[in-house]
Amino acid sequence: MIGRTVIITGASSGVGKALAERVASKKAKLIMFCRDGKKAEAAREEIIRVSHNEDIHIVVGDLSSMKSVRTAAEEIKKKFPEIRLLVNNAGASYTRKIITEEGLEKTFAGNYIGHYMLTLLLLDLMAESEPARIINVASQAHMKIDFENLNGEKRYKMFDAYRYSKAANILFTLNLAERMKSTQVTVNAVHPGVVKTAVYRDIGGFQNLAIKMMWLFFITPEKSADMIMPMLISDSFRNISGKYFVKGKAAIPKPGTDNETDREKLRRLSEKLTGLKL
Ligand SMILES: NC(=O)c1ccc[n+]([C@@H]2O[C@H](COP(=O)([O-])OP(=O)(O)OC[C@H]3O[C@@H](n4cnc5c(N)ncnc54)[C@H](OP(=O)(O)O)[C@@H]3O)[C@@H](O)[C@H]2O)c1
Repeated sequence: MIGRTVIITGASSGVGKALAERVASKKAKLIMFCRDGKKAEAAREEIIRVSHNEDIHIVVGDLSSMKSVRTAAEEIKKKFPEIRLLVNNAGASYTRKIITEEGLEKTFAGNYIGHYMLTLLLLDLMAESEPARIINVASQAHMKIDFENLNGEKRYKMFDAYRYSKAANILFTLNLAERMKSTQVTVNAVHPGVVKTAVYRDIGGFQNLAIKMMWLFFITPEKSADMIMPMLISDSFRNISGKYFVKGKAAIPKPGTDNETDREKLRRLSEKLTGLKL
């Protein structure tokens, strides 16, 4: 991994930051793709202190904005001649429905569409850098997408929006792995575990109480990162693609989530929204 270029989205906190520390400690060239420049700079300084690696670069971009993702991808392509690893980790959920300037529900836009775009915009560079790996951080909370409610058209529920976006991460993994099967670019998805991070910060009411009660049983971001790291560096993952991993083992997505019809629907929708063909 020494000197190899690795991009981690959402590397300023939680699982992404813990992964970033591990990747930096392996002396890789790290790109932290973050939406908050100040927060990213503070995290960068801490990662340098822990890893003694100064080859760490920040690219500021908001994954919920297609315009911002395009600009950030251009910046990456200009500055970096290769990309060996892309970890699409960033994720968030929102208590109320927010529609982005480009007309998308913000959870779907930031957790999925932004990563779809970033990946496709960098795919040629990754293929030139092969062998390369793409890891999409999904969640066991994923559920079958209601395509008629993706923008909260029928009703907006924070959890539903989050769960659709995580199912999209998995379906995208399967679709992209299929496309890349004759290359040495692998694509896999992972559930990071139930982790003590800021992802739960906006949850209110009864669910907040439930989370507080369960908090002791959640794992640390460090433990989660240790579980994910083999997917980034281990030789045993070299030829594995199109899989979804839970606790280090290949798992089957929830019933109803992963079917040809939904995969095709998501592919068409993503292409239509972004103008980028899978
Ligand atoms: N924690 C869990 O139990 C759990 C369970 C299953 C799956 N996951 C998934 O694990 C991944 C990491 O989350 P985490 O738990 O580590 O939470 P976290 O500490 O909140 O980290 C999420 C990171 O993503 C960034 N981010 C969110 N939306 C973004 C956007 N639109 N553009 C750019 N960056 C954005 C956040 O930036 P800010 O700091 O600016 O908000 C933050 O750096 C997420 O995909 C999450 O869905 C987490």
